[in-house]
Order: sequence, then structure tokens, then C-alpha cells
Amino acid sequence: MEKKLEYKALELADAKSAVAGEISWQSPSNIALVKYWGKYGRQLPSNPSVSFTLKNAHTKMRMKYKEGSGQVILFFEGERNTSFEARIAKFIDSIKDVYPFLQAIDLEIHSSNSFPHSAGIASSASAMSALCLCLCSIERNHFASLTEQADFLKKSSYLSRLASGSACRSVYPKLGQWGYHEAIVSSTDLYAIDVSERVDRIFHSFKNSILIASAKEKSVSSSAGHQLMENNPFAEVRFKQANKNLADLMQAMKTGDLNEFIRIVEEEALTLHALMMTSNPSYILMKANSLVLIEKVRAFRGQTKLPLCFTLDAGPNLHLLYPASIQEEVQVFIQSELKQHCENGMIIEDEVGEGASLL
Ligand code: PMV
Repeated sequence: MEKKLEYKALELADAKSAVAGEISWQSPSNIALVKYWGKYGRQLPSNPSVSFTLKNAHTKMRMKYKEGSGQVILFFEGERNTSFEARIAKFIDSIKDVYPFLQAIDLEIHSSNSFPHSAGIASSASAMSALCLCLCSIERNHFASLTEQADFLKKSSYLSRLASGSACRSVYPKLGQWGYHEAIVSSTDLYAIDVSERVDRIFHSFKNSILIASAKEKSVSSSAGHQLMENNPFAEVRFKQANKNLADLMQAMKTGDLNEFIRIVEEEALTLHALMMTSNPSYILMKANSLVLIEKVRAFRGQTKLPLCFTLDAGPNLHLLYPASIQEEVQVFIQSELKQHCENGMIIEDEVGEGASLL
């Protein structure tokens, strides 16, 4: 396995043209099937993970840049946002070993999300991947490197990982995998890879309906959650389980085995929340409605034998996952049985998407 990626530190003096211009990217969020939970070192994952890239939930980011003194100004949905700005400035400072030239560039960033803030969809994956795609575009446009698309995406994913772990999976279409696994060719802890061609096509058009059990801000952040894994008594068993689940899931997805897919995906979701409950201090992010929804989904599957399952992010909302072929039946079920357990009846419709795009 590649243990370290050495990217040449790019100084302003290395640029082939004046570093000034404007660039825009759209980058999606993703939903993990095997969860990344626990990290070490410089944003390295304690276990490998894989996710569906989403289509509708995305960030659009426009970046204006010119020579200056490393200043970052950020507008979110049209308004200056100093806390997001500070987070980006801190990240840019943290990658000065890769992009020292950014210390002499001023950035004006305009960012907006396609999904409402209150939807409980993690926005860091889409925002941070959009940011890193913009930065890699500056490199491509002014330093004459990253001209090969594969290299471009690899470096964008590498930097996205440094910005927000799971963001590294978002740059790829359909299915992104991150973290070394002996059974997955080319897998590495350093960046994500595109594994969409390694699975049955049924997964390329999977649907994702997000049931908002609660739109409130979560009480424990993901970064605090990762940290609590350091002393979780089940950590080692969990990392083993994730490795086995990833190999088994990739095999099930290759053969189109939906029963095995469902078993693993739901086990991963509930394990993630079990790890929160067994942290010290322990915490619970599911709400009463999350459990009601889970029970209803399982009862529906038992009765109809339709391949509908759920996963959960680090929050209370259920992500329903199902093949496009059963969309009609699932939509009737959502409207008649599930919507009433969502906050203000809120449901967000999404599906597997094509990854990031230059605007
Ligand atoms: O990338 P982070 O630090 O926001 O962590 C994401 C963790 C989960 O969303 C719960 C799982 C995952 O693999 O995306």
C-alpha cells in the first residue's frame, strides 16, 4: 500500500502564469454504506469505508483568486460567514506543505447548498470537496500539472480527505471507496477511489429518500465522535467488523445480492449508533421517531419482500435506499406510513449521482 504521497510543494514562483482568475465547481454529498468512524494521525481512517455519491444534495462553490497575502473571505448563501471562513482559512494553513503558494493568494469564495441547512444532511463532504476541486483547478490552470483527469481527481480526493475525511469519497461518480483493504485493488488510506464499475448496475440508479426525523443541530459533532472512538472498548472489534463488512458488501454488490446488501448496510448503520452509545461519555443521536421509522421499514420489508432498507448518518435521520424499480411502491409507503413521523413531514428525495462537475 502507498503509505505516503509526496506532492511537490508548489510555490508561487513555480506558476506558469499569473495566479488570478475565477473557478466554480459543484460537488455532491455522499452517504456511507460501510461507515468511517474513528481516525488517527493526519486524517487517516481507522477502517475503510464506501459510499454512494448523491445527486441532488450538493454544494456550488465559486472561487475568485488573485495574488495577495493569504486572505480568505467567504460568503455562504450570499452572506459573509466568518465561522465557515475561519474553518477554511485554518485548512488552507494546514496544507501549506502541499500548496505553500496559497499563503500569497487571496480567495473570495461564494458557496451555497442545494439542500436546506435544517435538513440534517452533513454539508462538510460537499463543501470541502468543492473547495479542494477549486484549489486543484488553480493548480491545473496555472502550474500546468494535474492535466490527466485521474491525477486531478486523486489529488482533489487527497486534499478533501485532509479537509474532512468522508469528503474524499464525494468527487467520484456513484460509488467512492476510501481506506486500504487487501481485497480491494488500488485502495489506500490516502485518498478515495472510484469503485462504481466493480458493482452490479442495479446500484448505479439506487434511490435515496431522506426522512427527517429531526432537523435540529446534532448535540455531538462528528469530529468529537471520531475522537471518542480512541477509548471505545469495542473499537478493535469494530474495525475488524468494518473490514469484513466492506469485503462482503463489495462481493454482494458485485453479484447484485440485495439481501446481503440490506443485511450489511443496516448492520453498519446500527453499529455506528451503538458505538456512540458505548462511548465514554455515551450519547444518543437517534430520536424516538428514528426508531419508529426503522421498525416500520423492517415491517414493510417483511410483509412485501421488497428490497427496501435504511442507513443512518451521524444523526437521527433515516436514509432509505432502494432500487429504482420499486420506487412507486416505496413512495406510496412513504406518503401513507412514514411521512407522519418526519419533522414537519419533511422528506428529501435523492439518488445515486455522477460526482463532481466543473461549472
Ligand atoms: O468525514 P467526517 O469527519 O464528517 O465523518 C463522517 C462520518 C460518517 O458520516 C458517520 C460516516 C461516513 O463514512 O461518512
